This record gives sequence, C-alpha cells and structure tokens, in this order.
Amino acid sequence: MDGDTAVAPDFDPRTPEAVRDPYAALKPLQDAAPVWWSDRLGAWCVTRYTDIRVAFRDPRLSADRIRPFIAQAAPALRDTVGPLGDHLEHWAVFTDPPDHTRLRGLMNKAFTAGAVEALRPNIGAIVDDLLDAVETGLAARGDRTFDFTAAVAYPLPATVIADMLGVPRQDVDRLKDWSDRLAKFVLTSRADPDRYRLAAEGIAEMEVYFRDFLDSPPSGGHAGVTAGLIDARDAGDRLTSDELVANCVLLLFAGHETTTQLLANGLLALLRNPDQMADLRANLEDADLVRNAVEEMLRFDGPALSSVRVVAEDFEWHDARLRRGDRVFLFQCSGNRDPRAFADPDRFDIRRADAKANIGFGYGIHFCLGAPLARLEAEVAFPRILRRFPNLALAEPDPAWSDSILTRGMLALKVRAKESSD
Ligand code: HEM
Repeated sequence: MDGDTAVAPDFDPRTPEAVRDPYAALKPLQDAAPVWWSDRLGAWCVTRYTDIRVAFRDPRLSADRIRPFIAQAAPALRDTVGPLGDHLEHWAVFTDPPDHTRLRGLMNKAFTAGAVEALRPNIGAIVDDLLDAVETGLAARGDRTFDFTAAVAYPLPATVIADMLGVPRQDVDRLKDWSDRLAKFVLTSRADPDRYRLAAEGIAEMEVYFRDFLDSPPSGGHAGVTAGLIDARDAGDRLTSDELVANCVLLLFAGHETTTQLLANGLLALLRNPDQMADLRANLEDADLVRNAVEEMLRFDGPALSSVRVVAEDFEWHDARLRRGDRVFLFQCSGNRDPRAFADPDRFDIRRADAKANIGFGYGIHFCLGAPLARLEAEVAFPRILRRFPNLALAEPDPAWSDSILTRGMLALKVRAKESSD
C-alpha cells in the first residue's frame, strides 16, 4: 500500500514532538511525499495547499466516513458504535450529494448572515461579562494569572451558540460535557481507549435533550436557527426529525470547541510575536486589520489540523494508487504553511495580504457553515480583550496541546495580566 513512495520520510502523529508541532512533523512529507501512505494512521496523508483544495472538491473523495467506519467495526464494538453511526450519518459534514445538497441548503436558510450579524451586540456583552469576571477573580485571589481558555475562550462560543439555538444558558455546561465525550470519537483522540463508550453516552444524552427541547418550545416559541430548521422540517419531508435533531447537535458541537481554539491559539500567536501584538494593539480601531489578523490566526495556527475523506473509486495521484475505501487525511495545518502558497509561511504576520486564502475552514461544498460566526466572535473579542488587559504575558511558555489529530488546541492557556508597574 506504499505506492512509489517507499523511501518517503516517516510521520508519527503520536510522538510528543508531532503533538506539539505538527507543522514541523509534517514538513518532510510535504517536501518529498505529497500523497503518502501511513501505516500508523491506516490512511493517506495529503500535505500541500493546492492538493488539499483539489481534494476538497474531488467527488472521488467522499465525506461519508462514518458508514464505512461502522461497517468495519469489530463485532465486540458494534453495540456501542451502532447508535453513534445512526446519529452521525445525518450530520451534514458527513454526507455527500444529493443528501448534503439538501441538508446544507436547509441549514444555509436557517443560518443566515443576518442571523449571525444580529448577534454582534450580544457577543460584545458576553465578552465584557467574561472579562469582568476575570478581573473580579484576579482581584479576589490577589494573583494576576488566569487560564484564558477556561475563563474566556471556552465560555464565549458555547454561550453564543446556545443563544443562537435558543437553548437555555444554564444548560451550556451539561451540553459541553456531552459534546466533549462525543469529541473523543469525532475528533479522534490519539490515545483514549474508552472513547467509543464515552461518545455513545454523550450522543444518547444529547439526543434525549434535543428531542425534548424541540418538542417543548420555550415560552416565546423556538427562535433563530432552531426555528428556521423546524420550519424546514414542517414544510414537508425535506428535513426528517432525526436529521433535525442530529444537525442541532452538529451545530452545537461544531460551534464551540473550534472557536475556543481559534481564540486561544490566536492569543498565543500574538503573545509569542510581540511586534505583531504591538501593531494590533496600536490599531484596534482598524476593523480591516483586526479582520485580517483573525484570518492570519486561522492560517498560522488555526483549529483545523486535518479533515478526513474516504476514497469512493480507485485513482492515481502523485504516483500513489488510492483504492476505494482508503481513508485520506487532508492536513490543512500543513497546507496553510505551504511555501508554494504563502511566502515565508512560518512567520505570523497580521498584515499578510493573502491571509484570507487560508484553508482553515475547509473548501468546496463542505466549507464551514459557521465561518461567519466564528470570525465575528474573534473580531469582537480580540479588541475587547486587548483593551481590557494592556499588559498581557504568557505565564507558561510551552503550553500542552490536545492529542486530537483533527483539531489543534491547547489544554489551557495560562496568561498573566501584568499591572503596568510589573
Ligand atoms: C474557528 C472556528 C471553526 C473552524 C476552524 C471550523 C472548521 C470547519 C471545517 C474545516 C469544516 C469542513 C470539514 C470537512 O470538510 O470535512 C467545517 C464544517 C462545518 N462547520 Fe465549522 N469551524 C469553525 C466554527 C464553526 C461554527 C461556529 C459553527 C456553527 C455554529 C460551525 C459549523 C460547521 C458545520 C455545520 C459544518 C459542516 C458544513 C457542511 O458539511 O456543509 N463551524 N468547519
């Protein structure tokens, strides 16, 4: 299964070096073996920018990676993974046309630019409340250090997506807990042996929650995206009840962890690049620059480490022979640092003219539905955070990273809000 690339360099995603710096770990593949078979992953690895964009648009690469996985599961696991599959096969992100075209069309109608833009003042108010709580906590403890992820980057997107779906805010922590368990499966933790059971439990509880939420509307009726999706279901047989529940769960799931990582990874990049931090701080009124800085955060160290596809028919590519059923990892992190696409790619530059060409939100028909929301959250949050804390510094120079092979996020980001006299 190693095609013509037998002399290719190795890539082991489980080493501490690869978890800490996947860019460096994948570089040898990008240079020498752009489509490379990994025995460890049991999959092809694609690492060049243009190849990844081509792959995202290639109908021979299917987004339906759930059904094949469930079909191949060991008999002992079937009872656990079966219900997971029944739910996940309805997620738009795991479907191909024509199902995807139908689901995505309905979600686009509910998840409109207007619905996102209407959240702007709400997002600002949530950020301000979170920053107030940080300040109160710092004052009470007499210590200037806090975990930015736990205090701001996690609660902001979780609260925003709950508001957008109309789910009560007091349920956010419960939903987050179920969603974290599901992430062990969907985001392929590299090490957790218990992940299937945890994910199955998480999904079962979320399903019960959402069925109840959809059947018993809050006093003013369902609002926002949920109302739009319910209309789509009730308008005929275009969205089934199972699809409705599953795609509410998808929105909740997709809507927070990735955005948490954008905020935390973005702040880390600024703290590690003081010249860029100084430039941004001096120009916080410049909405275009703030917007471009967010694009550069997505490019330089964004949350999307990779996306998976399954080969739907045999074909040859860069001398490799891909066979039906093979899995393919499209390493967006690597593509975003491809020198063929971006000049001096390992440099974090908030004024980079082509930062927006990053593939952090994917590409083609599955391009992230929530991109406008994630961008808006970051564009609203960063100026507020930097104004509130004019002297932010890293409290832990080398934070630990999650071992997911699909997303790139830190377990915590400890920062110090220095007094100006410090
Ligand atoms: C910085 C934050 C985010 C990043 C980096 C991100 C990344 C991605 C990527 C890479 C894909 C494509 C996956 C593939 O092709 O297999 C995707 C799809 C998707 N994302 Fe996001 N996402 C983010 C935030 C959000 C938010 C806030 C929401 C919703 C509220 C969301 C909802 C979705 C949905 C529904 C899809 C599936 C679209 C489809 O299949 O047509 N995402 N996202």
